[in-house]
Amino acid sequence: MPLVLVLVLTACAADASISRGDAPACRGDAALGATLVGSNACATCHGRDLGGNGAARAPNLTPAGLVGWSEADIARALSLGVNREGGALCASMPRYARLSERERCDIAAYLRALAPVARQVADSCD
Ligand code: HEC
Repeated sequence: MPLVLVLVLTACAADASISRGDAPACRGDAALGATLVGSNACATCHGRDLGGNGAARAPNLTPAGLVGWSEADIARALSLGVNREGGALCASMPRYARLSERERCDIAAYLRALAPVARQVADSCD
């Protein structure tokens, strides 16, 4: 098989594993996401290590907290304010509709690349 064809097939296989269900594919740049997480002050509520904050009781955003979330799920949470099942997040979680879809995917890529922080945070919405 010519090398080019092998490369194309490999790339397609990788794509298929990224998009899940009916969620659109979301491939962000984790380094750009790190900057956006800083400029949007996510850590103020989600904790310095993003592993959840006892005071604000905002949930753990590391892979140990967002178990089973795809990058598209995270981007949708930021734009629409919904959880993985589509239920509304409480109002204290800001909606980030002013960010572009690419920026939300950059943030998602960064969160998925974080070292998991094993911390349970009690339900944050009273
Ligand atoms: C003002 C405080 C605050 C800020 C700032 C904030 N969040 Fe949140 N976030 C929350 C709270 C509180 C929840 C829990 C909402 C709920 O359970 O309904 C939440 C929930 C989430 C969830 C869903 C997690 C889950 O387990 O359901 C994601 C994803 C998320 N935030 C990402 C972010 C990102 C990324 C940023 C920065 C761009 C950010 N948040 C900024 C307070 C905040």
